[in-house]
Amino acid sequence: METPFEIFLSAPPGLEPLLQQEVAEAGFDAPELAPGGVVTRGGWPEVWRANLCLRGAGRVLVRFAEFRAFHLAQLDKRARKLDWGAVLPKGAACRVDVTCRNSKIYHDRAARARIAGAIEAFGGTVSPEGALRVMARIEDDLVTLSLDTSGELLHRRGWKEAVGKAPLRETLAALFLRASGYDGSEPVVDPMCGSGTFVIEAAQWAAGMAPGRARDFAFEDLPSFRAGEFATLKAETDVPGREAGLREAGLLFHGSDRDDGAIRGATANAERAGVADLCRFRRAAISDLERPEGTPGLVMVNPPYGARIGDRKLLFGLYGSLGAVLKERFAGWRLGMVTSDGGLAKATGLDLRAGPPVAFGGLTVKLYQAEL
Ligand SMILES: C[S@@+](CC[C@H](N)C(=O)[O-])C[C@H]1O[C@@H](n2cnc3c(N)ncnc32)[C@H](O)[C@@H]1O
Repeated sequence: METPFEIFLSAPPGLEPLLQQEVAEAGFDAPELAPGGVVTRGGWPEVWRANLCLRGAGRVLVRFAEFRAFHLAQLDKRARKLDWGAVLPKGAACRVDVTCRNSKIYHDRAARARIAGAIEAFGGTVSPEGALRVMARIEDDLVTLSLDTSGELLHRRGWKEAVGKAPLRETLAALFLRASGYDGSEPVVDPMCGSGTFVIEAAQWAAGMAPGRARDFAFEDLPSFRAGEFATLKAETDVPGREAGLREAGLLFHGSDRDDGAIRGATANAERAGVADLCRFRRAAISDLERPEGTPGLVMVNPPYGARIGDRKLLFGLYGSLGAVLKERFAGWRLGMVTSDGGLAKATGLDLRAGPPVAFGGLTVKLYQAEL
């Protein structure tokens, strides 16, 4: 494969600019916005680094081929001509996904069969359970082939065994933290922390721990993978050891929840994520929320909302108490609140700014921000 190639980093629609900001800060080449993500260019080491280090990317795709095809026989011929061995391992088990739009080839399944045929001719197998995923987009008669280098979605950091009732994806949590102005240098409090997503994500970020440090990636099975080089990259980019300094400086991350099970789960998750020393979890209802000592920081919260948990009428009272407690005890702090229900957000009585709508779990959520 010719280097540099295009690398696509997916983000929830609406949050692409935040991912673009992260990708630029992380030193990737000229990241550009695209629908549903960000495009940069690089070689395999950039692909490994993007998977390992970016907190907001949902998956990392490598665009490995692009050609025109106006009918299925042409697609078949051109797909068979590709150097599959440069991208896929011998005997690769693949899944192939195809979308056709505004093209003479309009039949997804027929196009998929042609691409699958080319992979099989190379010696691979194709089935919906394949571990590797090849994606073809046929748009305006242009065929773009991509390979998913992440495998499991990147919000699966490898530490969340205990999940609460409605856990937030880590990638989404990281983008909402960023949208709220978090940069790893202030305390974070989540008073309805559930499985601890915001708290743990913020603590790892502050400690300089790579989000992908505890998981595997699909790229490790590709012929382009060089294990020694990746191990060096991992050692260079994942720099814990900052925890002690953070603790001494009093930078801590606090989660509370009224549910005992949530607190047990969040505590175990923080342990597995390597940030137990930086996190403080406590069972407490919103009415018992305490302001941590020290400099003000960020309250980050994802309260229950009707369509997912509980009853909307009761929730008005809960949002009202949240607003009152924050106003009374958290002067000087900032709030970032994620909810799908604008009416409930308003019930906090806080002067909120709403962010763009973001699709999550079959609903549309927004980040509401306020100065407390
Ligand atoms: C949507 S979940 C939060 C999920 C969390 N962000 C995560 O990623 O796991 C809302 C949480 O609010 C908690 N909760 C509901 N009412 C509460 C109250 N009055 N005081 C404190 N926590 C409460 C629930 O136990 C639940 O864990």
